[in-house]
Amino acid sequence: MNIMREQALAIDPRYAALLEQTREGVFVVDGQGRLTLVNAVLTRLVGRAADQLVGQPLTRLIVPETADCVRNTIDRLAAEAEATFTVVMTRPDGTRVHAEGRARRVGPEAVQVLVYDLADSPQRAERLRHAQRMEVVGRLASSIAHDFNNLLTAIVGYCDLLEDQLTDADVRRGDLEEIRVAAMRGAALTRQLLALGRHQVSRRSPIDLNALLHQMDHLLERLVGSDVTIAFELATDLLIIEGDPAQIEQVVLNLATNARDAMPEGGTLTIRTANEVLEVEQVQGHQDVTPGLFIRLEVGDTGTGMTPETQARIFEPFFTTKEPTKGTGLGLPTVQAIVTQGHGFVDVESASQRGSTFRVHLPAAELASDDAG
Ligand SMILES: Nc1ncnc2c1ncn2[C@@H]1O[C@H](COP(=O)(O)OP(=O)(O)O)[C@@H](O)[C@H]1O
Ligand SMILES: [Mg+2]
Repeated sequence: MNIMREQALAIDPRYAALLEQTREGVFVVDGQGRLTLVNAVLTRLVGRAADQLVGQPLTRLIVPETADCVRNTIDRLAAEAEATFTVVMTRPDGTRVHAEGRARRVGPEAVQVLVYDLADSPQRAERLRHAQRMEVVGRLASSIAHDFNNLLTAIVGYCDLLEDQLTDADVRRGDLEEIRVAAMRGAALTRQLLALGRHQVSRRSPIDLNALLHQMDHLLERLVGSDVTIAFELATDLLIIEGDPAQIEQVVLNLATNARDAMPEGGTLTIRTANEVLEVEQVQGHQDVTPGLFIRLEVGDTGTGMTPETQARIFEPFFTTKEPTKGTGLGLPTVQAIVTQGHGFVDVESASQRGSTFRVHLPAAELASDDAG
């Protein structure tokens, strides 16, 4: 009656129960890449009944971007006993399942695969906890940031009023300017807090990152000061990304600010853009990141670099190695929140006294098919 059952029994009746007892999804594909056997866990994982699966090509279950990786894995089995891979599968309702699989050749024309949902892994639970902590921090931050912003607007406003009452020669102008600078710094911090709190609701639009960087040129120069040289190395054919321009700007500003802080004696800030293709292996461990076309934004400095101990904690909210007046420990968590929300990820390369390079990977926007030509 049940194809799944029949197939399982056809292999060996004694193992049919075992097949249904395992917590992993199990399937077998034949030489043509068609499913010949599936267990109940797999049907639940992919949201399709066994009779919709058996006899179908495996590729029907898999998003195109990860199909190559699965094929490579099967090819690898010619030389290796077992191969592991990650794969993104689709359910009929369009939702995606990120799964990890182990494949093994069980006959000249048959490959057996065990898959489990990465959502069930302990790392995922840890990431969820981290995301929840970030959400609380974000909510808190934005609720105080609004009130705080109003206070700062008042401070700057009264600075302006006072300034009008002072003659050009008045020595108190200097003090007034200090008040204004401090208030502006407070406002910058507030924007930062708002960005952190806002990361769920952003206005997404297509972004030409190179153009955005050009626009920020002067701002960046002012930010890093005259002791730091800025070198732009921008890809000429950079793909378009999708996101909230204000947030992407925030990412660049936060990374550039950190780079400047790491180069108190001066140095070079390098901002580089490039297109890249990321394979399944390269996005492994990053939640909600699908392999495919990406752009890479690199922000590198020739500054102090980081010890491995520091590097391990840089994305923690409020982690800072700077003096209380200089560091908030919110710069990188904000960067990470923005980039993660855009289905990308951040990594970093750094060594003590040898500078740091932060790399932001963001998926290229999907081109509308009627754009072609
Ligand atoms: N480019 C960099 N070079 C060296 N250390 C860095 C760099 N970027 C970040 N860090 C380290 O990461 C910490 C956290 O950064 P961040 O979240 O931006 O907070 P903050 O800059 O307020 O300290 C910094 O205090 C510093 O120790
Ligand atoms: Mg910072």
